[in-house]
Amino acid sequence: MAVAGRLNYGAWELLKRLALRGAIAGPVVLSSREIGVELGVSQQTADNYLLSLEKHGHLKRTIISRKQHLTLTSQGVDALRKDFLELKAVFEAASELVFSGTVVSGVGEGRYYLSKKGYNDQFVAKLGYLPFPGTLNVRLDPAHANALEEVRRIRGIRIEGFEAEGRTFGGATCFQAKLAGGECHLILPDRTHYQNVFEFIAAKSLRRTLRLTDGATVRVEVRA
Ligand code: CDP
Repeated sequence: MAVAGRLNYGAWELLKRLALRGAIAGPVVLSSREIGVELGVSQQTADNYLLSLEKHGHLKRTIISRKQHLTLTSQGVDALRKDFLELKAVFEAASELVFSGTVVSGVGEGRYYLSKKGYNDQFVAKLGYLPFPGTLNVRLDPAHANALEEVRRIRGIRIEGFEAEGRTFGGATCFQAKLAGGECHLILPDRTHYQNVFEFIAAKSLRRTLRLTDGATVRVEVRA
């Protein structure tokens, strides 16, 4: 007899497989031998999993004409849903970083760098557009002191440095982002003098398309 303690991993896996086969909407006909083959365990182990799921109230098993009909109970469905919602929260949180900050003006350097062919050719090839010449600066709110570290954990799009006009132009990494709802890329130059300021590039002027002026509060989403 299986004891109704914690559901073991094999039984949980079976519950999931049954749901995938449609045992939420109605009965699925499966023998313990077939389940054993699918899970890579013996028929006896498969039987124990079924018994355990029944004991936990997750599964209803009926034998009709010597065939095993398996249906998830509402309790079984609830258990799966709870697991799903928890994992969904985990992965959604990891797939997007959200920051808030204020639009600020810089020293006009963005315009200079964004006029270089060595960068622009890469932007067109790797981002799919020729950026508006400049970077829009956002000073992050103090709450986001670790923003740079968090973004650096994401795999971005590399823009390589190059030599031109007798000097070296440094590389940068771009990250797909949304600024005040507008599509753009966060660009992190390998060398920067900015602290807590994120720079954004986009196909069009973000100030113009989003009607942003210095001091505007914006929400920034960076996609992982
Ligand atoms: O002077 P600053 O360093 O802030 O600017 P810049 O990088 O030379 O960019 C020129 C101007 O265009 C600045 O006002 C930026 O905020 C703005 N800009 C924009 O509205 N949208 C972009 N996609 C890039 C820059």
